[in-house]
Amino acid sequence: MERFTVRLTAAHKPAGGKPLVFKNPVLTASGTFGYGMEFAPYGDLTHLGGIVVKGLSLRPRPGNPLPRVAETPCGMLNAVGLQNDGVESFLKNKLPRLPWHETPIIANLYATSPDEFGELAAILAAEEGIAGLEVNISCPNVKNGGILFGQDPKLAAEVTEAVKKHAGHLPVIVKLSPNVTDITVIARAAEEAGADALSCINTLTGMAVDVTTRKPLLANVIGGLSGPAVKPVALRCVWQVCNAVKIPVIGIGGITCARDVLEFILVGAHAVQIGTMNFIRPDAAFRIAEELPQLCQQLGIKNLADYRGTLQL
Ligand SMILES: Cc1cc2nc3c(=O)[nH]c(=O)nc-3n(C[C@H](O)[C@H](O)[C@H](O)COP(=O)(O)O)c2cc1C
Repeated sequence: MERFTVRLTAAHKPAGGKPLVFKNPVLTASGTFGYGMEFAPYGDLTHLGGIVVKGLSLRPRPGNPLPRVAETPCGMLNAVGLQNDGVESFLKNKLPRLPWHETPIIANLYATSPDEFGELAAILAAEEGIAGLEVNISCPNVKNGGILFGQDPKLAAEVTEAVKKHAGHLPVIVKLSPNVTDITVIARAAEEAGADALSCINTLTGMAVDVTTRKPLLANVIGGLSGPAVKPVALRCVWQVCNAVKIPVIGIGGITCARDVLEFILVGAHAVQIGTMNFIRPDAAFRIAEELPQLCQQLGIKNLADYRGTLQL
């Protein structure tokens, strides 16, 4: 349906490169939807707007020690630590099984230096099945890199430039952290460094403890909070970022239903990603994508592009 199609291109940017077009605004969030195929039994992957795969690094990573997830009221904490098979294994064994001809597959990148980010981007840009790159400068669960890049505008710009330099025709989405004093400072730094779009938010740092064992629930002690508990923070961040930059913004954080999707579009997001909700119901993203047109019809919303950013203050 054309009126639900999303084009992730910034109006002010010169044309060039491959446009990122989603058939609907409902994507899945990195780290919560595996490499994609794991969720094929629960719905048709070609009905999703896009799939952002689990964070990829140059070499395989074992992740953090267990336990690395804990349930919290209306949310969860994780300190998975970007466990993954490495980029080469993903490209050889996972990507060919994904319906990349029909659904944009976005690779999520993790590296420990701008040069390494550039190297990873170059490997992914050479692959036909990758539609875009999402740069994770906001992971709170790793010792090197991650959130450190996302808390300093200079480093955020350096990473963005390094990825853009090697991304070829691929659009580059920079994923922002809410764990900063002013998210708009990092958003502007990434935009000025050439980001084609931004996504926010990654998880909020948090911790949980057990009064009986006197131990933290996560072996890593601190983890990232996600799920419905973070939605108001995410909405605030997306609204602030949409008002600060000209490039498109993808909203993430606590989305559980089609109504939540509209909330993010109302504050200015072009598209959204479904994260923790995939653990609650593995068919959640499919269901939300299906319900969105029905909800729009009920509310008299004819076209998402016209509805976007129309919050009345
Ligand atoms: C278990 C888990 C693993 C995650 N792994 C990644 C990751 O590899 N890369 C990344 O950019 N974000 C990762 N995230 C963050 C999510 O993509 C998302 O930004 C965050 O959870 C907020 O959305 P939600 O509240 O809908 O889950 C992860 C989140 C969870 C819960």
